[in-house]
Amino acid sequence: MINITNLYKVFNPGRPNVVNAVNGVNLEIKTGEFLVIVGANGSGKTTMLDMVAGSVLPTTGSISIDDEDVTRLADYRRSKWIARVFQNPSSGTASDLSILDNFRLAAIRTKPKGLSIGVNDTFKNQVKEKISTLGLGLENKITQQMGTLSGGQRQALTLLMSVMDSCKVLLLDEPAAALDPRSADIVMRTADELIKDYRLTAILVTHSLKDAYNYGSRIIMMGEGQIQKDLEGESKQALKQNDLFAWFS
Ligand SMILES: Nc1ncnc2c1ncn2[C@@H]1O[C@H](COP(=O)(O)OP(=O)(O)OP(=O)(O)O)[C@@H](O)[C@H]1O
Ligand SMILES: [Mg+2]
Repeated sequence: MINITNLYKVFNPGRPNVVNAVNGVNLEIKTGEFLVIVGANGSGKTTMLDMVAGSVLPTTGSISIDDEDVTRLADYRRSKWIARVFQNPSSGTASDLSILDNFRLAAIRTKPKGLSIGVNDTFKNQVKEKISTLGLGLENKITQQMGTLSGGQRQALTLLMSVMDSCKVLLLDEPAAALDPRSADIVMRTADELIKDYRLTAILVTHSLKDAYNYGSRIIMMGEGQIQKDLEGESKQALKQNDLFAWFS
């Protein structure tokens, strides 16, 4: 469970270019919940995710994950729970390394320093088996360099890698925005399946109202750093795509 209490982020306080990016957010996200965040450009969505991930520290307020207060905890110290996928497909993986080596790195990401995982046949087969679930045929290309794959292929693999470990929280910031419609579908479906299979608590930020409609168990709309709408369960299911369009008009 993620608990966000009275959260504020002010950039450039006391200066002419001051921005109240997140302006008093209270939010309780239950374990296994798949929260979708929509909202106009500059409404504070990414700043919210940054504060959950720890790459931006709040001005005031608090954040806890599974009852542990992480408000002031550096991002690398939360990375054992939190995986993050960004809009840019090249930001999640090492381009010069093979698919297999990227998976090896992902597997040791949160292990104690000095521990290494040999690329033996057991590990190779595990990776192949996982990759085959994507249905992209990439299991036969595990020695290929990551940088030679398409954006969609890379995002799908990044998602798989992000749940290799003990991750509990998956943060997705427009993971399909740079992809063609078919690749975007594959990436979103993969994310949805992984969230259900691993019972992850997930937050998706998206400008795609189609994805906001199709995915998630709860949806919030942000505006000017605040939560303006919040629907879950049956209310979310009953929401039509046109209702969502109306939120933005
Ligand atoms: N490091 C920063 N320094 C100053 N202002 C910032 C910084 N990061 C974000 N902001 C400002 O905070 C506000 C919220 O930005 P944020 O990136 O969270 O919006 P967003 O909802 O993710 O927008 P988008 O849909 O365009 O990605 C914006 O006005 C932005 O310019
Ligand atoms: Mg953003």
